[in-house]
Amino acid sequence: MAVTILIKGGRVIDPASKRDEIGDVWIVDGKIAASGHAPQRTIEARDQWVVPGLIDLHVHLREPGHEAKETIASGCAAAVAGGFTSVACMANSGQPLDSAMAIRYVLDRAREAGSARVFPIGAVTKGLRGEQLAEIGLMAKAGAKAFSDDGVPIVNSEIMRRALEYAAMFGSCIVSHCEDPDLTRGALINEGRVATELGLRGWPSVAEASMAARDVMLARWTGGRVHIAHVSARETVEVIRAAKRNGVRVTAEAAPHHVTLTEERLREYDSRFKMNPPLRTAEDVESVLAALADGTIDCIASDHAPHTTEEKEQELAACPNGVVGLETTLGVVLTDLVTNGKLSATRAVEAMTVNPARILGVPYGTLAVGAPGDITVIDPARKWTVDPAKFRSKGRSTPWAGRTLKGAAAVTIVEGRIVHDV
Ligand code: DOR
Ligand code: ZN
Repeated sequence: MAVTILIKGGRVIDPASKRDEIGDVWIVDGKIAASGHAPQRTIEARDQWVVPGLIDLHVHLREPGHEAKETIASGCAAAVAGGFTSVACMANSGQPLDSAMAIRYVLDRAREAGSARVFPIGAVTKGLRGEQLAEIGLMAKAGAKAFSDDGVPIVNSEIMRRALEYAAMFGSCIVSHCEDPDLTRGALINEGRVATELGLRGWPSVAEASMAARDVMLARWTGGRVHIAHVSARETVEVIRAAKRNGVRVTAEAAPHHVTLTEERLREYDSRFKMNPPLRTAEDVESVLAALADGTIDCIASDHAPHTTEEKEQELAACPNGVVGLETTLGVVLTDLVTNGKLSATRAVEAMTVNPARILGVPYGTLAVGAPGDITVIDPARKWTVDPAKFRSKGRSTPWAGRTLKGAAAVTIVEGRIVHDV
């Protein structure tokens, strides 16, 4: 049950209402209120940040079908532990989310789990096969907040065109996993110096940038809205920057690993650094980070992609792409980007709250009076060491295992319910 909560004396950062000041925040009847009385719960937030509940718009929850990797309940538990009050989940579970029934299934399981909000992303094509459009309209009516075949690219431009047009009728965007598969077949890591030295086949940046260029052109042509997932390359940033300048309805996200780590980490063939798109060069990292700082890239999204330990412990060529991120994203962003001044606190919060909310078209990500009472209280000074054995997620593979981070979610509140409190 929602109780009256007073969060006292914290640094309130709400980019949606351009607020950054010391103050109190009230939640009454599950909503943000200007004031209240007789709080049942008072949270002392001195030296802490009080921000809208964090939103991660790129998460793989794996259910239905791959429950050994993650379930909706385990993924939601990981989300709230990491400070996320909402996650959008991708359609590439074991049973692709390509029907209204599948969308309803995810929403039901999320309701049962009762912690983070889950916004299902429906598949663009039936079975994620890239051949026939899925029932976008029916899925939108059932509660899908965006559409994507993420995990695999949509190669057929006619399908992408129709998908953009169709989704626009429901106010939704297409989340594009940009990859030209003819350019990446057999590739394990970035095409570049490390791949050459190790004798591995590389994944060239142009495979991402060329598809992003096609997608922004199709968005421009159709008037539809495209969101470029996990931007990893400098050339992709240039495509998005130019498209935004031309008024194209394009948004983009970057994953924490793509703004902090480089291909150099693959020298030991360590599968904890294998994801798709791959880690790239220092110039790419610099460029993606600059784009995040200047708003060319709108959001930070984890691309939380859990796999079983058995799967990830295979040799580099055999192990699947993907690392978990829900429980490390906030700490990594604070430690590696905000504390050292690469990204302002306001920009970081904006990229994890109001921006993803707007892209998904949901009324969260703000502390405006009357908004849903979703709040994350962040302790920016808390030091902790990443121990995958302690994750709520079933996925254990992370580039940051053993790393000491500074900054963590102290309290996570969804609709006035405290779902995480340390
Ligand atoms: O690393 C990745 N893992 N990239 C993707 O595009 C898909 C994801 C997954 O589903 O495991
Ligand atoms: Zn992807």
